[in-house]
Amino acid sequence: TYVVTEACIKCKYTDCVDVCPVDCFHEGPNFLVIDPDECIDCTLCVAECPAEAIFAEDDVPADQVKLVQINAELAKIWPVITQRKEPPADADEWLKVPGKLSKLER
Ligand code: SF4
Ligand code: F3S
Repeated sequence: TYVVTEACIKCKYTDCVDVCPVDCFHEGPNFLVIDPDECIDCTLCVAECPAEAIFAEDDVPADQVKLVQINAELAKIWPVITQRKEPPADADEWLKVPGKLSKLER
């Protein structure tokens, strides 16, 4: 499965959702997650993300492995998002800012 990692937090560009053939992205207040039970590993979303936030589960950076479980957990709670929408007004300011996990809103 593929996993949305920390770089998405407060950026949430949503380009990824337009290309997913199985609609497995779920939206929270400032982050998106992938439902691991639905993702078919097509890889299409990876190149779409301006924040380069999406990784194959096995390639998630060591300091972010927590996000694997967080994707699975929040995908069960948050609603599906299938169409791109405007990112937050300050999305570009958060691009490449490290240590955003503490900013994740549930
Ligand atoms: Fe959707 Fe494919 Fe990305 Fe999985 S890898 S989330 S199926 S676009
Ligand atoms: Fe997040 Fe990248 Fe999608 S910033 S919303 S994973 S395009």
